[in-house]
Amino acid sequence: MNVQLLRTPPVEVAADWLAIGVFEGQTTSPPSFRGTSLGDLIEELLTSKELAGDVGSTLPLYGVAGIKATSVILFGLGSKEKFGAGAAFSAGTAVSKKLATKQRATVAVLLPEGPLATASALTEGLVVGTVGPGMRKSDPSRYAFDTLFIVTDPTEGLVDALSRAVIVGESINLARDLVNTPPSEKSPTILAAKAREVAIASGLGVEIWDADRIDKERFGGLLGVSKGSDEPPAFVVLEYLHGGESPTLALVGKGVTFDSGGLSLKPSASMEDMKCDMTGAAVVLSTLSAIARLKLPINVRGYLALTENMTGGKALKLGDVLTMRNGKTVEVLNTDAEGRLILADALSYAAESRPGAMIDLATLTGACVVGLGLRVAGLFSSNDPLAQKVLDACVATGERAWRMPMDEDYKEGLKSTVADLKNVGGKWGGAITAAKFLEEFVGETPWVHLDIAGPSWADSDSPTRDAGGTGCFVRTLTYLIEVMTSHTTI
Ligand code: BES
Ligand code: MN
Ligand code: ZN
Repeated sequence: MNVQLLRTPPVEVAADWLAIGVFEGQTTSPPSFRGTSLGDLIEELLTSKELAGDVGSTLPLYGVAGIKATSVILFGLGSKEKFGAGAAFSAGTAVSKKLATKQRATVAVLLPEGPLATASALTEGLVVGTVGPGMRKSDPSRYAFDTLFIVTDPTEGLVDALSRAVIVGESINLARDLVNTPPSEKSPTILAAKAREVAIASGLGVEIWDADRIDKERFGGLLGVSKGSDEPPAFVVLEYLHGGESPTLALVGKGVTFDSGGLSLKPSASMEDMKCDMTGAAVVLSTLSAIARLKLPINVRGYLALTENMTGGKALKLGDVLTMRNGKTVEVLNTDAEGRLILADALSYAAESRPGAMIDLATLTGACVVGLGLRVAGLFSSNDPLAQKVLDACVATGERAWRMPMDEDYKEGLKSTVADLKNVGGKWGGAITAAKFLEEFVGETPWVHLDIAGPSWADSDSPTRDAGGTGCFVRTLTYLIEVMTSHTTI
């Protein structure tokens, strides 16, 4: 989307729509409209509480006199004290969701007061809200604006922050589109080809392994899970090496393009949204694309483990034993715990290149959703400094993760009588057991596991968020990498 900074006085902005943010509890009009009829109207709406200013609320005003814009939309920013990147992102999304339902030539948004981080987040939201989940609707339900103007007296760094925001917003939309794609249209082979396309377009190195290569590389987990499907697995290695001698960051994504559960078949209701089980891979691809477009001076490798989890005649059977990349053997006692099997190989392989840090993202367990709900990711790590860096990045973007325990006793359930490990533990603490399983494959590498089963997907539409894939953690990972390279534009 074409996004431009505009320093015209707001009353002079000639656009189809002019969006103006208001805080909760605010009673005066934004300074640039004070004394105008629009200013008076805004104050009346605020004092009468017709306009409450909560995040997600919007109020269109037609035929306003005294300004050049055709129409005005007022939108809530929430409480001024709590205004941060999270609220700004949601508020921006809400504005675009409202306006992008029709074709618009020009939309101008008055930038609310705040640091560069909120300016970026608001713009990211504005980009994200122009794309909906209706990718296969006969009539497109959302239209990107021809031009989005951000209206402000530019402060230092704002131009860079805005171009960053557009890249991040577009990367989130890439992840969302991939997640929203019907499962039969994103088989591992197709998704790998898409990853190649994205990699080439954004300047990433890319290597794709087919089933033979995956077999030769002794990826017993990925190969095992794929056996129940007519579609072969794929393994994608993305490379962005622009950090000189600095240590490499490895990002690993679970890419189950459809999770039926295998012979430990899911009930229909639990299977409905299982096209979302490749969110980790989509987010890793999108983040790498973002940092390449941002030209950040860092070394990053991305690893996407792609497979379907199906019930074909060659499917894994309960009691089967797999030998993983690092030589450990795993007894499969629930084929629906497939994510950890494919991540085991991917993590072992990624760790072999001795990265300075490794982060995996996976829609791994329903147990994590039971524990933390739909909005918060589980963060698992035995490395306090790395865990803290990721948590700090979450605070900065407003995306939410909560650190979970990793004590040794959680490993006990994984003891097998026939193999080194089994792939499921007992009834309780399932998200932690899964993380302890993954830990067996990371060696000494500082590592963080994000279980994004909750936040990866929105069950229903709301003013601030579309139903479907959310593209969660593209914002946080990009910010984390900016911090790691001290190239923060926000
Ligand atoms: N992909 C699912 C986890 C999931 C659940 C993602 C809900 C998104 C929303 C995963 O492969 C799975 O099936 N996990 C099992 C593990 C169990 C068999 C130990 C689960 O959570 O039930
Ligand atoms: Mn599963
Ligand atoms: Zn799964």
